[in-house]
Amino acid sequence: MTHARPRYLESKRSVDARSRAPRVRDRLLAELPADPEILEAGCGTGVTVPQLLSWDIDAGQYRGIDTDERIVSFARRVRPAALRWAGHDVTTTSATEQSTSESAGADTDFAVADLAVTFETGDALDALESNAGVDLVVAQSFADLVPLPRFVSAIESALRPGGFAYLPLTFDGGTIFQPDHPADEAVERAKERGFTVKNGDGTKADVLEAAGADHAKVVVAATPDDDVNLLVAQLARTNFGVDEVVGRANQPANLEAFRDLDVQSISAGHAVAAAMDNQIERPGITQWMTEADREGDVQEVEVTKRDLDGDTVAELADRLPEGCIVAMVGRDGNHTVPDGDFRLQRGDHLTIIGEDRDSVHEALRQVHPDVTL
Ligand SMILES: C[S@@+](CC[C@H](N)C(=O)[O-])C[C@H]1O[C@@H](n2cnc3c(N)ncnc32)[C@H](O)[C@@H]1O
Repeated sequence: MTHARPRYLESKRSVDARSRAPRVRDRLLAELPADPEILEAGCGTGVTVPQLLSWDIDAGQYRGIDTDERIVSFARRVRPAALRWAGHDVTTTSATEQSTSESAGADTDFAVADLAVTFETGDALDALESNAGVDLVVAQSFADLVPLPRFVSAIESALRPGGFAYLPLTFDGGTIFQPDHPADEAVERAKERGFTVKNGDGTKADVLEAAGADHAKVVVAATPDDDVNLLVAQLARTNFGVDEVVGRANQPANLEAFRDLDVQSISAGHAVAAAMDNQIERPGITQWMTEADREGDVQEVEVTKRDLDGDTVAELADRLPEGCIVAMVGRDGNHTVPDGDFRLQRGDHLTIIGEDRDSVHEALRQVHPDVTL
């Protein structure tokens, strides 16, 4: 079943919008050129076009392909009218509407601002295979409808080197909406904040694997049940070989069990005591660190850049963005508040503090070019 019914496709839009991962969208938008060439496979009623516009992609070329002739004609008819109604500057060239645009070419159904839009009837895999140099392939609620190996190689042949494929909302055969689960709200909140969330029992190896434990840098087990946290920590270490595992010890008596597993543990009781101590002894930085919408950041990063080896902190400071400082250097388990003459070594851990998050991220890249943010 392809779900190619206009009413269904139009009505699922708000649900789709809530389901997309903001983190993926942000990465995509940061990398796309200002006037991308976009090809959409299985475009349906063309709902991606208003989505692109809401992301400020209003220049370039969009070509949507769908096998269903009826649905393509719906897209051609309804989409420009709906966009115009929503206040967009739409010019059309199709036979049914008067052309008012010079910029819209002969094959263009319509143009919104500087984005030329075409909807075509056809097989999207054929279209991908006969194209090259595309900046972005979009296929929403589509990848499960076609043979995946052919689809993946068709995408590869259509994209320019470094191009992007955005394939949101692919049905995995296992999505369950009912019955309600007590964690539903927490999962939804986390997704809205840009996290990828899997709902499942974290003490099961297959659930951890599905969540990406086999390539995780850090695994944190933070449930209110120490048995669960110990089991997750053990699986992360032994089954998945994760280097950094952090567990919440709800009962101080269990701290030793975490230590035996070589797992860093945070005792819930100690954490509250430390938070209270911070609030009393260093209220300024504590408040700043816990503000949800704070602009600045504090991050620790390992020095991996070869040409920093032997440089002084003052020399590094000259290369860091304005408003960022090296507050601490960790070496062999010791921590130093460095002056400008302190000489850095590869493997040092620098704590960088800065007034805005982007500058801190830029500073981290100066020190550790492959850092994952
Ligand atoms: C579930 S709908 C999704 C439509 C749209 N992407 C959306 O999210 O609203 C899948 C669409 O893919 C189209 N389709 C299925 N196989 C196709 C193919 N090989 N080439 C082009 N379109 C195809 C169907 O006609 C249908 O419109």
